[in-house]
Amino acid sequence: MDKLVLIVKEIRQEAKDTATILLERKDGRRLEYQAGQFLTLLLVKDVGRELRRSYSFSSTPGIDRTPAITVKRVINGEVSRYLLDHLRVGDQLMSLPPAGRFVEGPGEMGGPEAGKWLFFIAAGSGMAPVFSLLKEALAKKPASRVVLISQHRDEESILFKRAMDDLVRNFGQRFKWVSFLSRPEGRLIDPVNQMGRLNNWRLEELMGELLLSIPEKEQPNALFYLCGPPAFMRMALFTLRVMGFADTQIRQEHFTVEYVPPPPLLTDNTPKKVTIHINRKQNDREEEQTATRHFQFEVAWPSTILQAALNQGIPLPYSCKGGRCSSCVAICLSGKVKMSINEVLTENDLREGLVLTCVGYAETDVVLEY
Ligand SMILES: Cc1cc2nc3c(=O)[nH]c(=O)nc-3n(C[C@H](O)[C@H](O)[C@H](O)COP(=O)(O)OP(=O)(O)OC[C@H]3O[C@@H](n4cnc5c(N)ncnc54)[C@H](O)[C@@H]3O)c2cc1C
Ligand code: FES
Repeated sequence: MDKLVLIVKEIRQEAKDTATILLERKDGRRLEYQAGQFLTLLLVKDVGRELRRSYSFSSTPGIDRTPAITVKRVINGEVSRYLLDHLRVGDQLMSLPPAGRFVEGPGEMGGPEAGKWLFFIAAGSGMAPVFSLLKEALAKKPASRVVLISQHRDEESILFKRAMDDLVRNFGQRFKWVSFLSRPEGRLIDPVNQMGRLNNWRLEELMGELLLSIPEKEQPNALFYLCGPPAFMRMALFTLRVMGFADTQIRQEHFTVEYVPPPPLLTDNTPKKVTIHINRKQNDREEEQTATRHFQFEVAWPSTILQAALNQGIPLPYSCKGGRCSSCVAICLSGKVKMSINEVLTENDLREGLVLTCVGYAETDVVLEY
């Protein structure tokens, strides 16, 4: 997989523990990405120890001139601390190409109303991809109605506050923002903010009020985007399910891997043959060409397909290794892959044959394409 070399153009303090890092490609080419996607940074610490961490774009292509990621400090976090304390303008960063499926799927649910009602539910650094997506919806989808429900600790930790206030001013007719502050510093005089922590009954009550303005026949077309700490996302997911929304209406972006399930039991544990085709787009001057590379290797249970490839020195992409980020996604052209967990691929994705190789076990010989 090709790696990108990025140059830090600017670092903006976003909140006391969060900064936005503006990046450009070193080779001068444009960094192509979609709103809601992320970069996976590759950092080498000590002697040859590689660390991989993903950071979502908070910028929006076609709207923000320079691509940007927004990094929040994790206490004792190895990479976030390094980025916030030591990174300087002009430094270089290595990254995998932009990836991720927390993007707006055009006409994903079919029908002319698809994607008209967009609900974003975010907390903490989960605001980064959500900010990218909602700017895109407001600027490029004039028929869309956008609601953001966000959770922050206090006034100081609301990310992108000034830009968000501008969006409310400019798109107030079709953008509503409700934010919750768990530990507000002052009296809440800003009508956007509410005190407290978003929980299931609060969310259900709020959604009930918001849904009053949506004709009932359009409600099945509403799309939900969730991003935040695991407990927050579980709460939002269960609430939306209880309210009758289908999983196909809900997209999630997980920043942390809580646990990786053990390998699933397979009826046939004999070694299987894996064939991999990597189609790499090359932009040689004016012409876009595709170069294909092929690999073949064996995988034996209980190894995942990704781990078997990495053991052979085959450089497949990955980040979380826990079925949450989709960096390792491939298309299964033939054969059967069993995943021990899948938190990112939708039913549509599965129908198209997408599999997560980091939690994917070959049930038969398989052919995969990247
Ligand atoms: C698809 C994807 C997109 C992401 N986008 C962003 C983003 O836009 N902005 C951003 O700041 N982070 C984002 N993350 C999280 C980021 O990749 C790192 O996990 C995070 O910065 C912590 O890395 P670290 O090396 O500092 O901490 P580590 O040294 O890896 O972890 C230290 C401790 O903190 C825990 N931990 C790890 N990550 C988190 C977290 N996010 N919150 C709370 N505890 C954690 C670990 O379990 C560990 O116990 C994203 C993650 C994924 C998978
Ligand atoms: S590496 Fe994150 S889902 Fe596979």
